[in-house]
Amino acid sequence: MEPTLEQVISWVKEAASMARQMRQEDLQVRHKSKADLVTEADTAIEAFLIDKIHTNFPNHSINAEESGQHDGDQEHEWFIDPIDGTLNYAHGLPQYAISVAYACKGELKLGVIANPPMQEYFYAEAGKGSWLNGKPIRVSETHELIDSMLITGFRYHLLDTPRSNINNFIRLSQEVQSVRRLGSAALDLAYVACGRVEGFWEIDLSPWDVAAGILLIREAGGIVSTLHGEGHLLKGSIDILAANPVIFPKLQAILNEEHAKPL
Ligand code: IPD
Ligand code: CA
Ligand code: CA
Repeated sequence: MEPTLEQVISWVKEAASMARQMRQEDLQVRHKSKADLVTEADTAIEAFLIDKIHTNFPNHSINAEESGQHDGDQEHEWFIDPIDGTLNYAHGLPQYAISVAYACKGELKLGVIANPPMQEYFYAEAGKGSWLNGKPIRVSETHELIDSMLITGFRYHLLDTPRSNINNFIRLSQEVQSVRRLGSAALDLAYVACGRVEGFWEIDLSPWDVAAGILLIREAGGIVSTLHGEGHLLKGSIDILAANPVIFPKLQAILNEEHAKPL
């Protein structure tokens, strides 16, 4: 048996109200490393979502940020980021997400991303489209870089390395209206899907950060691929580029120019 979009949306809505509620209370925060936090909301929401999946689909496998891999039938795989943008959440910045995706035989089928403070629910179903709170969404129709706004992100542990992403940020900032750093990769991808921005790229993300967003963008008419055409979009360390179909090749050319330079 396969899950329905309505079912996953209802779980994510419940999880979103848990996130809002727990934010009002005295939040326990633990450090995984200097800039990598985990709050009690991360663990509680992840446990809640895993329980829903296990109750309804006991043989499905799950790849969840805080508890890792839950083995099951590999043909049915779930990706869970219970709070994407934990640093924003812990600081009380209302820019964080809950992201859940389901894939069958390696193909993404369902994706749901919530922005709890805004009560925005982005969702997609393979072959059927993408929606925001019940209204169909499409990527933007902007054709020129100079009319575009982009989003990116920086991983703390890469800041001092050739993969820091700083050169890409400087290079693209000269070509577009602005490059933002908002702090939740899942919402960044959702914003490409609904046309609020033209494109997004980031280095070293994880499957739970991107799975739902990839389906949202593809179903909204956009393009998503690995940044340099190597590697996998749902495994290991993910370098990702997503944009509307006209802006995508322009960004890809510039980001690969930098990549091609000797270190
Ligand atoms: C992080 C956010 C952030 C991105 C980081 C991610 P987390 O996820 O998506 O935008 O820049 O790379 O790790 O840790 O808050 O779930
Ligand atoms: Ca997270
Ligand atoms: Ca994340």
